[in-house]
Amino acid sequence: AVNLKGRSFLTLMDFTPEEIRYLLDLSRDLKAKKRAGIKNEVLKGKNIVLLFEKTSTRTRCSFEVACHDEGACVTFLDSKSSQMGKKESLEDSAKVLGRFFDGIEYRGYEQSVVEDLAKYSGVPVWNGLTDVDHPTQILADMLTIEEHIDKPLNKVKVVFCGDVRNNMSYAWMYGCAKMGMHFVAYGPDELAKQMDEKIISEVKKVAEKTGAVIEISSSENCLKDADVIYTDIWASMGEEEEIPERVKLLTPYKVTMEMLDKTENPDVIFLHCLPSFHDFETDMAREQKEKGYDIREVTDEVFRSRHSKVFDEAENRMHTIKAVIVATIG
Ligand code: CP
Ligand code: NVA
Repeated sequence: AVNLKGRSFLTLMDFTPEEIRYLLDLSRDLKAKKRAGIKNEVLKGKNIVLLFEKTSTRTRCSFEVACHDEGACVTFLDSKSSQMGKKESLEDSAKVLGRFFDGIEYRGYEQSVVEDLAKYSGVPVWNGLTDVDHPTQILADMLTIEEHIDKPLNKVKVVFCGDVRNNMSYAWMYGCAKMGMHFVAYGPDELAKQMDEKIISEVKKVAEKTGAVIEISSSENCLKDADVIYTDIWASMGEEEEIPERVKLLTPYKVTMEMLDKTENPDVIFLHCLPSFHDFETDMAREQKEKGYDIREVTDEVFRSRHSKVFDEAENRMHTIKAVIVATIG
């Protein structure tokens, strides 16, 4: 039987397919319980801390609501309001937080920070997004796929469109490799060239064992038979100065109805981790438009179409993050 007590959740690469299966099943179970109004409070008496060096809506709220639902207490620290990394080393901060808390969530830049937090704190650390991974998002995406597509994961083809060298693209490669899925990173060669070769070779090694197919392509032929079209913003948090270049490179990879048609799958679903620039209803999209850059990575038509399951996906962030916390410290 799977037992994840005391484990950190830094990347799906640290987990077996059976362990990932267990987390998805637990998520489904916790979602059904919440819907039925059943209170478990399996985290009563636990304290967790959320460390955010980048902004967040879904991830932060998922951790907070999950803890409230299960009876745990939450402390939130952003980069401006703690000593970590500025007046106190990461090692010392981690040792202190490990004395206070039963678990630590971290969102920031380098993957080595979550690794060091886990090493020095002695308590489970959960990766809430780094520059190269976003593993809790992938659990939510897989749960959403299972809810909307009537096939086992290892028969599902996911095409990730756009910035193939970002955290979501890598996180998907890890997840698909582990679960034996078919993954295509569909984007321009200029960005594919910047992909981390070490990550790709690790992923390919896992894929050989699980039967996963991992491809990188700039040809629209790769869209055929996709079950899931996935995209993300073109310039991730901290990369805003790349916007002019990315608009130039990625406009041909904007998700449109014509792109969905090229899958030749009438039931294809559209997913997006969010937040999304599908219209000009944000300050950032408007400011960029004034400078002459259209940063919409998906059309409003696709975003609001029957194919789009983005709000089910967003809700599933909470249920899957709850499963990770319950499994590791519950
Ligand atoms: N998808 C996601 O991680 O959203 P937030 O940045 O709002 O947490
Ligand atoms: N690639 C995006 C994901 C946001 C959830 C970013 O890092 O900003």
